[in-house]
Formats: sequence, structure tokens, C-alpha cells
Amino acid sequence: MKTYVCKVCGYRSINGRAPEKCPVCGAPKSSFEEKNDAIKAPADPKNLTELEKKHIPVILVLKKCGLIEGCTDVHVKMGEILHPMEAKHFITHIDFYLDKEFLSRIILTPEKLNPAGALHLKANKGTLTAVELCNIHGAWMKEVTL
Ligand SMILES: [Fe+2]
Repeated sequence: MKTYVCKVCGYRSINGRAPEKCPVCGAPKSSFEEKNDAIKAPADPKNLTELEKKHIPVILVLKKCGLIEGCTDVHVKMGEILHPMEAKHFITHIDFYLDKEFLSRIILTPEKLNPAGALHLKANKGTLTAVELCNIHGAWMKEVTL
């Protein structure tokens, strides 16, 4: 997959081009480098390894939100086997995209947080992508249709 990575904050642009400005940290286009292995993919999607099960996000879309009328809730966890959140090995953040355009970054810290996050979306259709970064095992993604 053609991916451009921000050398400042690790944001991965997944729409096939580098943005004029990084939507996470504001770094200019010149800070992006093309890195097509920047997001890992499972060797065999039908037969995930234990490592892949710990890193590939699991996305749950709830059409009804407990807080806001008409809101779509998106809950994400890493992963099917819960990833550790220890000082030396943890999920640093989750980036969310709608139709390949950046939506939000959730920054996680180890020890007090679970490897999970949630979004309250106004949009109720499109393709939602979650890309998570493990400080040791790199970035992994999952995509769902809303
Ligand atoms: Fe990891």
C-alpha cells in the first residue's frame, strides 16, 4: 500500500499522497517519506498468528450512542488478544481515518490505560480505518464500512 509517513510524528497518510501539512503535528510536506511497508499486513489474513492477533485493531461500530442523538460510536481495541500496556511495550496511539482522510488521533500511555479508544462520529457512512502503533512491533490497520 502506498503510504507516506511523517518523520516528525509518525502519521501515516493512506490516500496515496503526502499532505501539504501533517494533520497531526503540522509538519510540512517535505517531512513525509514514502514507505510502502509502513503499515504491516498479516501474512495470511485467514490464519492470524498470535502476534497479529495482538496488533490488528478490532473495530466495533454502534449506531446508537449513549451521549449524543444521531451519533455513531466507534470502539476500537488492540486486538483480538489484548495487547500489553507496559512501560517497555505498549500501543502509543491510534489514528482514525474516514474515507482515507485523517479524523483523529488518540494518544495512549502505558500502565493506566487499556489498549483501546472510542470516537463519536457525526458521519454515518463511509470507510473507517484505524491504524495503531506499537512501540516495538510497528503499525497495523483495520478497515470497516460504516
Ligand atoms: Fe506489540
